[in-house]
Amino acid sequence: MALLGASGVAGLTALILLLVEAASVLLPADLKFGIVFDAGSSHTSLFLYQWPADKENGTGVVSQALACQVEGPGISSYASDPAQAGESLQGCLEEALVLIPEAQRRKTPTFLGATAGMRLLRQKNSSQARDIFAAVTQVLGRSPVDFWGAELLAGQDEGAFGWITVNYGLGMLVKYSFTGEWIRPPEETLVGALDMGGASTQITFVPGGPISDKSTQADFRLYGSDYSVYTHSYLCFGRDQMLSRLLIGLVQGQEDCAFDGVYQPPVRGQFYAFSNFYYTFHFLNLTSGQPLSTANATIWEFCQRSWKLVEASYPGQDRWLRDYCASGLYILTLLRDGYGFSEETWPTIQFRKQADGIDIGWTLGYMLNLTGMIPAEAPAQWRAQSHSIWVATVVFLVLTLVTVLGAASVQLFWVQD
Ligand SMILES: *[C@@H]1O[C@H](CO)[C@@H](O)[C@H](O)[C@H]1NC(C)=O
Ligand SMILES: *[C@@H]1O[C@H](CO)[C@@H](O)[C@H](O)[C@H]1NC(C)=O
Ligand SMILES: *[C@@H]1O[C@H](CO)[C@@H](O)[C@H](O)[C@H]1NC(C)=O
Repeated sequence: MALLGASGVAGLTALILLLVEAASVLLPADLKFGIVFDAGSSHTSLFLYQWPADKENGTGVVSQALACQVEGPGISSYASDPAQAGESLQGCLEEALVLIPEAQRRKTPTFLGATAGMRLLRQKNSSQARDIFAAVTQVLGRSPVDFWGAELLAGQDEGAFGWITVNYGLGMLVKYSFTGEWIRPPEETLVGALDMGGASTQITFVPGGPISDKSTQADFRLYGSDYSVYTHSYLCFGRDQMLSRLLIGLVQGQEDCAFDGVYQPPVRGQFYAFSNFYYTFHFLNLTSGQPLSTANATIWEFCQRSWKLVEASYPGQDRWLRDYCASGLYILTLLRDGYGFSEETWPTIQFRKQADGIDIGWTLGYMLNLTGMIPAEAPAQWRAQSHSIWVATVVFLVLTLVTVLGAASVQLFWVQD
């Protein structure tokens, strides 16, 4: 009787432990949300992210719930009417709020980061830039979210956070191995980031050797590993800035817009090229790993078509149509002559908009960093916990078996007796 009782208790315990484990996997955990406005030079986008509350520090657990294009131009274009810059954000914000349960809204961290367009405006007229920040801060500050602030991102941060976004999305920062430990995937699998906005372009990657110009180095510690990336942001070398400077025949000259003389180690590893790199190459059908020679030939062929033929082949696409030839040529030149990709290293570049369902850009990396969701130290504790539940379950199951078998053999013994 005592043996049967013991086996019952052990079995029940195992069952409960299994259920606890299963429940944490199967039941929908509470979702948390975060909002980031990417205030670029040509337009602003809102990204709404969500993740299970109990898995806050995991890699790849954040998903993108909404990407919303704010109507109208970038906030830096509202210099003569700053209040409108704030108002322009309302539409997307309301779209995001619809997706967030009411009880969660006040707890939703919300950020606005401005990039090269505002960097340029601040150089031109810092009081106008201040007024625009004040206007967006006012609108977001009175909306029913947890607004953390609006700020100007340094070019270096833009590069580093883009790099973090890609590698987080691809699960390259930390992996859970078969043997039940968190491991750091080999450094060679880390992916470099090539970003091109309207007013600046960024290159960020882990070079093969030391970085000799420390001003181009960004160091951080993620999940217990130290990373040292090379990153540089070229102000004025974004697509729109470049095109307008080509138009006015002013490729060199402005002090802050230099390309030559910037230190860069040789490119190394895989690269993801996103934003305007992707949009242009997607339009030209060059995103499926074509060799450099094909990209070159395709772009030149496109540029030589008559405008009538181009218009006829792409009806209803006029807005950017005029620019694809120039931006295609510009991208070729930048990647080849600027960053030094060769015929051999060209195939390491993947032209992508997303990684694991997340639009690639600086926004996710920025939010993860500011909310402390990527801990500096390795996340040993959470797996250790579920690992011990697992061990306990196995121990209790074995105990149950032993007692049941024991009880059975005792009964057999009695029957024989
Ligand atoms: C995530 O990490 C932070 C700091 O390392 C810690 O305070 C927090 O409790 C962790 N959250 C979870 C869900 O493990
Ligand atoms: C900056 O903009 C303000 C407001 O538009 C204007 O009054 C001021 O003269 C400008 N300053 C410079 C240096 O252009
Ligand atoms: C992220 O934030 C921490 C401070 O919380 C900072 O020390 C670190 O450098 C940041 N990471 C990046 C890539 O900027």
